[in-house]
Amino acid sequence: MKVLSIETSCDETAVSILDAQGGYENMTFTILGNALYSQAQKHAQYGGVYPTLAKREHAANLTVLLESALKEASFYTKEKQDISKEQREFIEVTLEREPGLALTVLQLLENIEKPDVDAIAVTQGPGLEPALWVGINFARALAYYWNLPILPVNHLEGHIIASSVELSPDNQNRYTVRETVFPVLGLIISGGHTEFVYAEKWGDYKIVGGTRDDSIGEAFDKVARLLGIPYPGGPELSRLAEEGRRTLLTRPAHLAKDMATLPRPMINTGDLDFSFSGLKTAVLYYVQEKGELTEMQKKLLCTEFEEAVVDVLLKKFATALQEYQTQTLLLGGGVSANTYIRKRITNTYTKEGVSVFLPAEGLSTDNAVMIGMAGYLMHLRDHKPKTAQDELKANGNMKLDR
Ligand code: KG4
Ligand code: ZN
Repeated sequence: MKVLSIETSCDETAVSILDAQGGYENMTFTILGNALYSQAQKHAQYGGVYPTLAKREHAANLTVLLESALKEASFYTKEKQDISKEQREFIEVTLEREPGLALTVLQLLENIEKPDVDAIAVTQGPGLEPALWVGINFARALAYYWNLPILPVNHLEGHIIASSVELSPDNQNRYTVRETVFPVLGLIISGGHTEFVYAEKWGDYKIVGGTRDDSIGEAFDKVARLLGIPYPGGPELSRLAEEGRRTLLTRPAHLAKDMATLPRPMINTGDLDFSFSGLKTAVLYYVQEKGELTEMQKKLLCTEFEEAVVDVLLKKFATALQEYQTQTLLLGGGVSANTYIRKRITNTYTKEGVSVFLPAEGLSTDNAVMIGMAGYLMHLRDHKPKTAQDELKANGNMKLDR
């Protein structure tokens, strides 16, 4: 089955086309077309994602991305279409809050043949509601005109499947599901989420823990901001931390006076919950106390920050494994791109015979490929798809364990 998928939950606008085949045990996903635009640079001046800007950017870019994904898939065949008055009205009403988008999508629909796809998957939540709405309304307009079913996807299930597949060695465009996924203990760490999930099969998720305040990604981005690194600061913070770590190895005694000591919030609570706002505040106090930081102090602060995060994650994983006894750990979401977190968790658990699943190449941060994959999961579990006429609402707080 060919799935067209749309992701607009945060600051990435993405459209992809997948050919999804097989059952739960042998799913394969071939990317036919994939287009993504990251708005991160545009949000940098606000120090984080600014919802109104995100919404506007999604609306401005969706049609271009769709066109590009269709071309890549060779589904872009020029042919003049007759759009009836009724169809035009439906699309205009559906996209009335995004007038520019109605215009560009109508222009596209007027000029090309219906592509060879069977369903449209779109992120329904969780995420920023104004941003989610743009993707949903866009999906509804297309679904209506091309008469296709809609698969409303939970973004977090997208992150879970992105870590449950691997790139085929013989085909750089094909992902296959890993052999033994379940039971699995997963931790989604991203800009918007810090969520512990236990699952025994696809579609059956139990949330067993999460953050009480900031997400891990937010902590990375806020600490980075305190150090003058523009949004999203996670990757740059991580680079500085690595430099600090390397220097520490060679000159530990010499650097002792420049070391920060940060708390490990909630490390000993014995539950699976997290709190990261205190960690960020501790960094703030440290920066205030020191005044201007030297480059070395900055690097060592980043190192200590990553150490604190990893210490907490490892302790919580240990607690979770005691309780749930799975042979598989899964890490998903943007922060799982972090090299140090990946390394420490993989090293610790492979020694203990537990497999650690990380996002497949290219699928760590938000993308539409994982949304198409999650849409296919919905199809497999015989979820009754929606039509363009059905009510479909963005759900900023959508839960995995509905
Ligand atoms: O999954 P994602 O793209 O978006 C959400 O669903 O929220 O995650 C984005 C987050 C940002 O906070 C970004 O700073 C963080 O992932 N991130 C990283 C790294 N790469 C991305 N954090 C730490 N180290 C990284 N290498
Ligand atoms: Zn995400």
